[in-house]
Amino acid sequence: MTARRIMQSDYMHWAKFKAPVRYALTGSEVAHFRMDRLPWTIADLDLDGASHPRYPALREAIANHAGVRVEQVVAADGTSMANFVAMAALIRPGDEVLIEFPTYDPVLGAASFLGADIRRFERKHEDAFRLDPAVVEAAMTERTRLIVLTNLHNPSGNLASEEDLRAVGELAARVGARVLIDEVYIDAAVPPRRSAAHLGSEFVTTNSLTKVYGLSGLRCGWILAEPELAERMWRLNDLFGVNQAHQAERLACIAFAHLEEVAGGNAALLERNRTAFNAFVAGRSDLECAPAEHGITAFPRWNGSDTQAIDDLLRERYDASVVAGRWFEMPKHFRVGFALPGDDFDEALNRLGAALDELM
Ligand SMILES: Cc1ncc(COP(=O)(O)O)c(C=O)c1O
Repeated sequence: MTARRIMQSDYMHWAKFKAPVRYALTGSEVAHFRMDRLPWTIADLDLDGASHPRYPALREAIANHAGVRVEQVVAADGTSMANFVAMAALIRPGDEVLIEFPTYDPVLGAASFLGADIRRFERKHEDAFRLDPAVVEAAMTERTRLIVLTNLHNPSGNLASEEDLRAVGELAARVGARVLIDEVYIDAAVPPRRSAAHLGSEFVTTNSLTKVYGLSGLRCGWILAEPELAERMWRLNDLFGVNQAHQAERLACIAFAHLEEVAGGNAALLERNRTAFNAFVAGRSDLECAPAEHGITAFPRWNGSDTQAIDDLLRERYDASVVAGRWFEMPKHFRVGFALPGDDFDEALNRLGAALDELM
C-alpha cells in the first residue's frame, strides 16, 4: 500500500497561527532585525519594477558568505522553498528517501508531496541525537536516492561532526545517492562551522537569513549544490517562482554587506540562554537533556507522559509555551528555543519550572 501523499504541514500551520504568549519558548529565530538600522535609502531598492533573473549581486553575496563558487548557488524563498526545490530536483515519484527521525515536519511533508518512498533513520535521545553513520547505513538500501537531515539538528540542536557527515556522504556515494542537509541553524554552531557543501559533490545544503539573523521576512534562502545540479534547480525554479522579489533581493544584499551588525549580540545571547537552560535542566529530576552547546533549540525528555500537557498548562496559567514533542513525533519530549532576551528567558524558565512542579 502506498502512503498517503501529504498536502500540508500541520506543524507549520500551528507554528504560524498559535495564540501568542508573553514568555514563548517556542521560537527558534533570534529577535527580528530592523533593516532601518542599516545605512541605505529607498533609491537602493531600485523601484523600477524590473525583475532580475539569478540576480548576480545576491548570488555573489551568498557565495562569499558560504565560501563557495557562484555557480554552486541557487536562490530560493527561504530555506523552506530551498528544501522543496532541492528535493524536487533530486526525487522522482517512488524514489526511496531516507529521512532522520525526529526531524522538522515540512521536510517530511515535501518529500511525501513529491511522491518519495520515505524510510527513516533514528537519531537517539540516549546518544544526544547524534548523527550516527552506522544507523544510517543500517537503514539504507540499494534503492536509496536521497538522505535528508538537519544540521544543526532541529529539534535537538546537535551538531554533526564533519567526520560523521563525510561517512554519510561515502555511504550515499556507494549507491549513487545524495545527502540534503538543511543548515538553517549552522551559523549558530560554536565555533562557527562551514557548510557541508565543502565536503563533496554528493552534498546539497540549504540555508537562509532567517534563524540566526532575524530576517525571516526577507525570505532570503539558498541552495548550495554542484554546478550541474544547481543549474537543474534554477530551471525548476522557472516552473515554481520564476524570479525572486527583487526589492527583497536588494535588501538581502544590504544585509549581507552588514552581516556582522545584523548578527550583533546574537551569539552571546544564545550562549547565555543555553547556559541558563543547562543549569535549569541540571536542577530538575523530571527532565533529561544533553547539555546544549550549539544553536537555538534543545529537546529535553520529560518523565511524565505527553508533553502537550506542559504546553497546555503553560498557556492556560503561565502566559508561556513550549513546542510539544508530538510535533516532532516524540510526545515525551518538548522543544525549547533560546531566542528570547535574557531576562524574559529566565522568567520563561521560572514559569516552565512552576508548570512542571504542578504536573509532578
Ligand atoms: C530546520 C528548518 N528549516 C527551515 C526552516 C524555515 O526557514 P526559512 O524561514 O528560511 O524558510 C525552519 C524554521 O523553523 C527550520 O527549523
